[in-house]
Amino acid sequence: MFLHAFPLHAGMWAPQAALSAQARVLTVDAPGRGRSHAVPPSASLEARVDQIAALLDAEQIPKVVLAGLSMGGYTALAFCRRHAERLLGLLLADTRAEADTDEGRAGRMAMIQTAEREGIDAIANAMLPKLLGETTRRTRPDLVEQVRALIRDVPVPAIVSDLLCMAARPDSTALLPTIAVPTLVIVGEEDVPTPPAVARAMADTIPGASLAIIPHAGHLSNLEQQERFNQVVSDFLYGLAEAS
Ligand code: MLT
Repeated sequence: MFLHAFPLHAGMWAPQAALSAQARVLTVDAPGRGRSHAVPPSASLEARVDQIAALLDAEQIPKVVLAGLSMGGYTALAFCRRHAERLLGLLLADTRAEADTDEGRAGRMAMIQTAEREGIDAIANAMLPKLLGETTRRTRPDLVEQVRALIRDVPVPAIVSDLLCMAARPDSTALLPTIAVPTLVIVGEEDVPTPPAVARAMADTIPGASLAIIPHAGHLSNLEQQERFNQVVSDFLYGLAEAS
């Protein structure tokens, strides 16, 4: 089950549909967008993960391998805190365990004002240089526009709720050594918001976790280097299947 990044929706996982030859692939839209447009935007990641657990109940899925990228990773860690017994494995991509700094929280509040005053295009313009790596921005204008189109599908109230949830999230650093399921940490080599050093520190702290660094990818490593990303996820899933 894949949990998407900010300021996006589950459509960012389109390239991972290729993994359905190997496993059932599920994606979830955070509240207020896409297939979750009728779910009222919540103010906490805890509320979101309880909704995900309820969705698993409704689909009669007892356990999942949960994969989250960036905001999706913050959500996956919140799920781990509240519903660890439902995890078969964990995949944390381009994310971090630390809470926001005071400066980071102030930046979230400023971005809420930008979203409300100027609309979604201003959010896309602010975020695209952070989301995509230098190589992608230089060589893949098609992908830049594809990500812009994904962002433009997200209503402003959903953006605001994402920002409030991320600003309020607790620090998960102390959770990492307690994670008891096989874990893969993935990071784009050119990821600036959550760079490889952050991913390496996370992988070093989670018992038995492995780390995959994806060359020529930035923060949206699953979109920027789709085949390489899918290959490391596929290897991880095969490893899980062999171990069980
Ligand atoms: C994301 O990609 O989900 C965001 O960059 C996360 C964040 O703003 O902390």
